[in-house]
Amino acid sequence: MKLSSTALPADKIKADALIVTVRDGQPLGPPAMEIDRASGGLIQRLVANGEISPREMSCTRLPSVPGIGSPVLLVVGLGSSDKNEPDQPTPGLSFRAMAAATRSLASRERKHVACCPDIFPLDEAVAGAMTGCVGQDLFRHEKNIHPIAQMTFGGANDADLSRGEILGNSINLTRRLVNLPASEIFPESFAEECQHVGKACNIDTEVWDRARLEKEKCGALMAVAKGSDRDPRMVIMNWKGDPGGAPPVALVGKGVTFDSGGLSIKPSESMLDMKCDMAGAATVLGAMQAIAQLKLPVNVTGYMGLAENMISGRSYRLGDVLVARSGKTIEVHNTDAEGRLVLADVLDVAVTRGTAKIVDLATLTGACMVALGKYVVGGMTNNQEWYSEVASAAARAGESLWQLPMFAEYGDQIKGQVADIKNVGDGRWGGAITAAKFLEQFVANTPWVHLDIAGPSFLEKPLPWSDAGATGYMLRTLVKLIENEA
Ligand code: BES
Ligand code: MN
Ligand code: ZN
Repeated sequence: MKLSSTALPADKIKADALIVTVRDGQPLGPPAMEIDRASGGLIQRLVANGEISPREMSCTRLPSVPGIGSPVLLVVGLGSSDKNEPDQPTPGLSFRAMAAATRSLASRERKHVACCPDIFPLDEAVAGAMTGCVGQDLFRHEKNIHPIAQMTFGGANDADLSRGEILGNSINLTRRLVNLPASEIFPESFAEECQHVGKACNIDTEVWDRARLEKEKCGALMAVAKGSDRDPRMVIMNWKGDPGGAPPVALVGKGVTFDSGGLSIKPSESMLDMKCDMAGAATVLGAMQAIAQLKLPVNVTGYMGLAENMISGRSYRLGDVLVARSGKTIEVHNTDAEGRLVLADVLDVAVTRGTAKIVDLATLTGACMVALGKYVVGGMTNNQEWYSEVASAAARAGESLWQLPMFAEYGDQIKGQVADIKNVGDGRWGGAITAAKFLEQFVANTPWVHLDIAGPSFLEKPLPWSDAGATGYMLRTLVKLIENEA
């Protein structure tokens, strides 16, 4: 997408379509006011009679508005959530409102769209606009969503544009990888994508193949991959934003490129979307790209555990005992609880390499969706101070995160009979937490936050601001978190 800015009043801008915003119960902002004046009071009339809704995310398309330079006007409602403090930045709303706007316009091809949002920060508006018009229909000949080739932003400066472009491109990278089928994205091809990003962005990138994983004794990760014809990988991306500075923050992602459940096979309907099970790793890759392109002065290492969970005569079995890289022995009670096995070894690599703090992202449990619904990330931690930093970054990004408890009794459930631990709790209750308790076994004393993104990372149905499929959720939170470390 080509991005530019303009200082022209909204009514003078000549584009294929023009986007302006209105707030509930507030006077029109400058761009909407310019349109209103040029059109003889049309906007205020349509707001007054209810034809234009100021409700959050509602989009009203008006063709041939008299007196303005663009043939189509789109009026986007911002709601009244920030009614009391309209001068405060609302990054989440800024992102979502512009995403809803371009998603609405992308129903047909439009070459040049101008955007004059009366909301800030503008970088989030740019990022939202870039993601809203990109869909999951990668292989459709007749597109549902037509990416916009060129966008002009009223009142944006160069920093807004370049920051927004970096965020938008990184979110779309994550979404594309998650939306691609498992026939295209498997451990080897995912690792190639990482190398490509590493080269382009100056991130030192290491790929561990099967031989290296064996040498490193990554017995848990390798067990998951055993049933597949695709070899596993681990990718380590090292961004040295602060050479000689503090030890790095680790971003760790679950990258199960397809989760059939293994011998504990999933029912067909539950398996359908399991190409999404590498969303954690794809979010880490997208975040690493953004962090490097923004040149954030922080040391950050991205770790991605890549394996395909399949069925064959070589599959790992129920009752098998695995020896994780850390030396802990694990009894397999369910081969569909594979994400925690992959992460066990990746977390151990992060810890043994000397990491200050860890955040992991994983489509880890259906139980997290039972607990919190599909649109909220579950957060779990061994260190409340580090959790607060992550939660505050999520709040500043406008992404929904809610903490689940880590009481010791949940940990009792994963004690093993023949090995140190087993890979599931007793029964399904509290499954998101018993999974986190399992991960906790592999982080030693390193401050660690686990983000279960099973719900928000992949949508069955579209939302106003996002096509169905991959969302890139939490990427903006990660960037805000690392920015705060600087
Ligand atoms: N990848 C799934 C979790 C998942 C489910 C992600 C739905 C996205 C949407 C994970 O590997 C899994 O299968 N978890 C099991 C754990 C159980 C066997 C203890 C689950 O949640 O049922
Ligand atoms: Mn599974
Ligand atoms: Zn899984």
